[in-house]
Amino acid sequence: MSEDLPASELPPGPSGLPVVGATPRSILDGLEFRERMADEYGDVVHWDGLDGHNYQLNHPDHVEHVLVHNNGNYVKGDRFQRVLGPLLGNGILNSEGEEWRRNRHLVQPAFHPDRIEVYAEMMTALTEDMLDDWTDGERRSIHDDAMELTLRIVSRALFGVDIDQYVDDIGAALDSFLPATTSLPNVVLPDDVPLPSRRRMDRARETLEDVVDDIIRRKRAEPGENDVVSMLLAARDDEGVPLSDEQIRDEAITIILAGHETTAVSLTYTTYLLAQHPEVESKFVAELDSVLGGRRPTMGDLPDLTYTEQIVKESMRLFPPVPGIVREATGPDEIGGYPIPAGARVFMNQWVVHRDSRWYDDPLAFEPERWTPALEESLPRLAYFPFSAGPRRCIGDRFAMLEARLLLATIYQDYHLELASDRNLEVIPTVTSRPSEDVSMVVRERTADDTPGTDG
Ligand code: HEM
Repeated sequence: MSEDLPASELPPGPSGLPVVGATPRSILDGLEFRERMADEYGDVVHWDGLDGHNYQLNHPDHVEHVLVHNNGNYVKGDRFQRVLGPLLGNGILNSEGEEWRRNRHLVQPAFHPDRIEVYAEMMTALTEDMLDDWTDGERRSIHDDAMELTLRIVSRALFGVDIDQYVDDIGAALDSFLPATTSLPNVVLPDDVPLPSRRRMDRARETLEDVVDDIIRRKRAEPGENDVVSMLLAARDDEGVPLSDEQIRDEAITIILAGHETTAVSLTYTTYLLAQHPEVESKFVAELDSVLGGRRPTMGDLPDLTYTEQIVKESMRLFPPVPGIVREATGPDEIGGYPIPAGARVFMNQWVVHRDSRWYDDPLAFEPERWTPALEESLPRLAYFPFSAGPRRCIGDRFAMLEARLLLATIYQDYHLELASDRNLEVIPTVTSRPSEDVSMVVRERTADDTPGTDG
């Protein structure tokens, strides 16, 4: 429970309705609410909610304070648990304290830079398999393609086996689970209230448990070497204790959830932005031609694919795959001169901070060239935080950056993608920034004399 504070100690913010405060608006209006809070009230915003004090932090230094310097005073909290706990159990995305520390330590080696290399070849091979199904001139749902491809990639990294037989089940389970996470009744009503969205979440969890248990059984019988689950089966903590099957299952479901839709969303928005900016696409394809000359990209090429990296960074600035982070204060704190009571919820939004004109000129423009070393040096540290920061920073950040660059380079060497409609994309903020509708593109095979951006 949040304690009472005199009005003089509260930062500015919306007044909201009696009892429920601004909670319904903050959920129903999604990202638009967050933007409005920053525009109207400044760096530290407060609103009363159904469940106490809520703060939104819009200055990078305040975000850094919570995620990095004083992270010990913050947990993910009830709201996070209510939304993701039913699916993830005690996986590292939502566990806390000693349990989180121990399991993060055990999972971390699977994401070490040396190991990530092993995944590079698999990523381009699976992308080529996807391209084999494309035909010149056909209209495709790029987000569906991206979702299937990234699910195959994260599952192959996790399990080291083909998951063809499970792809549809996993995809359908996540598809029904994620929208339920932002259903208003689910977020605000106590856990024991039965709701259709909660039944959907339970069914999704059961499906994923069945799939993952089946794969763990296969892995116990026939251990692999280069997959995350085999590493977790072999892992021992400092006392020599292995992880239980249930813990391994929670970590596997966590990694599927955390590593699948995030990377798909990033790929979808990047193709969308490239289709809208032919001059960027031309420069990108020129880099691919000069560095790769028609070869498939490998890890070793990445240092030379500098423009590709700038494109990925800029795309994740404008459309951060995770649009916001929430924490709950376990003890009192002070931010921007305002007391933050224990129990308060603190919201930090990549979506808002990444689009702030104090840090980025012409912030809504897609300009990969802005990512110069000079810009990076001049930015406040947390003016860009697609992967969060501090001890709970994304464990898959290198994996994701590798994947984003390799997938784009493989696809754009062979294809030019045109938007099939000129409607603007809307974003639905669930745990990720999902596109609100199908993103249809016409895919055109490149020919040797293609001039990107001027064809079609
Ligand atoms: C573009 C892609 C990705 C983005 C933008 C992203 C972003 C994030 C963010 C913002 C967090 C922190 C969430 C919070 O503290 O509330 C996080 C945590 C996490 N991510 Fe990612 N992620 C991406 C890809 C991946 C991949 C590919 C994997 C694994 C294969 C992964 C695994 C995880 C895990 C396990 C955590 C929890 C870490 C912990 O709490 O110790 N992510 N990610």
